[in-house]
Amino acid sequence: MELLTGLKERRSIRAYTPEPVPRDLVEKILDNSRWSPSWGNTQPWELVVAGGETVKRLTAEMAERFAQKAPPTPDVPMPQTFPDACRDRYMACAAGLFGAMGIAREEKGRRFEHMLNMTRAFGAPVIIYVLFSDDLQVPYTMFDLGAITHAIALAAHAHGLGTCLEAQLALYPDLVRRHLNLPDTRKVVVGIALGHPDPEAPANRFRTAREPLEQFVTWVDL
Ligand SMILES: Cc1cc2nc3c(=O)[nH]c(=O)nc-3n(C[C@H](O)[C@H](O)[C@H](O)COP(=O)(O)O)c2cc1C
Repeated sequence: MELLTGLKERRSIRAYTPEPVPRDLVEKILDNSRWSPSWGNTQPWELVVAGGETVKRLTAEMAERFAQKAPPTPDVPMPQTFPDACRDRYMACAAGLFGAMGIAREEKGRRFEHMLNMTRAFGAPVIIYVLFSDDLQVPYTMFDLGAITHAIALAAHAHGLGTCLEAQLALYPDLVRRHLNLPDTRKVVVGIALGHPDPEAPANRFRTAREPLEQFVTWVDL
């Protein structure tokens, strides 16, 4: 698939078919993605690809904890507030998604069910966890991890698969470390749900908007 088409076409996929994803296809996606840029080519990213029973057991335990309303303990602090313009876009995103899914504002139970489903990686058969080692300095490491994460999403799309980058899959990193046999030195940023998009799912019909260039670009001398 042409790169520029893929850049615009990729979108978050929030419902997957149970069809498995073969390991060699994930390998191709990661092989494409490893050409991402990073500070001084340090390539600080570490990825753990989980499938099969591991995904089932991990997501089941995360969902159980989430359902009990256990306070999240993310390795990378999650933003609690946003400047007005960002908050407005955040709210518009949530309203658009729930609208597409036919979930009204007052339907708290269905909204919570959506969050639980998010904690289960929306039924994706594969989760790619994006990690970094705790001897790295966080701010610019996040930049590098973001670069490869986007590349994975684009490459997956080009290979006909769907993804959803999920901070929700990093709410309880102790569970991630335990199920994936990782030492405490490995810090979790996001999990990437990966699988075959369910073409019938209303959530997958939702498309987010983007601001026009005038909104965020300043031109100087060009
Ligand atoms: C760091 C990060 C964390 C995200 N976490 C979640 C998440 O937990 N659940 C979710 O449904 N989407 C999550 N998203 C997806 C965003 O909501 C999505 O990328 C955004 O709304 C733009 O929509 P698009 O990906 O369809 O273009 C996350 C995206 C990023 C970059």
